[in-house]
Amino acid sequence: MALLSTAGKAPLKDRADDLYESPPEAVHALLRAEKLPPMIWEPACGPGSIVRVLRAAGHRVIASDLVDYDSADQDFHGWDFLSERRAPDGVQAIVTNPPFKLASEFAAHALELCPLVIMLLRLAFLESERRTAILDGGHLARVHVFKNRLPMMHRAGWTGPKVSNPTPFAWFVWDRDHKGPTQLHRVSWEAAIGC
Ligand SMILES: C[S@@+](CC[C@H](N)C(=O)[O-])C[C@H]1O[C@@H](n2cnc3c(N)ncnc32)[C@H](O)[C@@H]1O
Repeated sequence: MALLSTAGKAPLKDRADDLYESPPEAVHALLRAEKLPPMIWEPACGPGSIVRVLRAAGHRVIASDLVDYDSADQDFHGWDFLSERRAPDGVQAIVTNPPFKLASEFAAHALELCPLVIMLLRLAFLESERRTAILDGGHLARVHVFKNRLPMMHRAGWTGPKVSNPTPFAWFVWDRDHKGPTQLHRVSWEAAIGC
């Protein structure tokens, strides 16, 4: 696995706009909706919001990111996911919330590296002609749409008012073995955490 030097080129403060940490509630909802395999790769882990919940649920998680977040929940930094040629040994699924600007590239590349790919994405990811290959290629097995809005994902370093989340999100599940149309499910993060 390449330990690239690119992470050192720009300081974290210049890259912080890539970081919107997933609310743990979203991961609890995923655990209720999908049976995840034992060994998972979170390749854009940030400080480890998804990683922590998956590990607490008993999964082995390899946590990498381009940036060093100086977090105990991050295993590796300097890993540019889009340059990785293979998944770490034993990985059975990729689970992440990717940088939004690169979401399509992340999804396509992840499916090349791993048979099961699960990403937290804006529901609007379903739109766009540009994403036809990744959306209509036959491997998008399930979409779990949140029927209640997730807590807001504020940009790292955000000091403004905390507002409610105006954006609908969903977990997108790609499975190389999937055949047939995409199934749509509605999930609740409040139910997942017992509200
Ligand atoms: C939207 S944040 C989500 C962080 C984390 N996955 C979570 O859910 O809390 C996107 C993350 O992608 C990372 N990132 C951006 N470009 C990357 C790349 N090419 N390879 C790996 N990670 C990248 C950023 O540093 C940031 O941590």
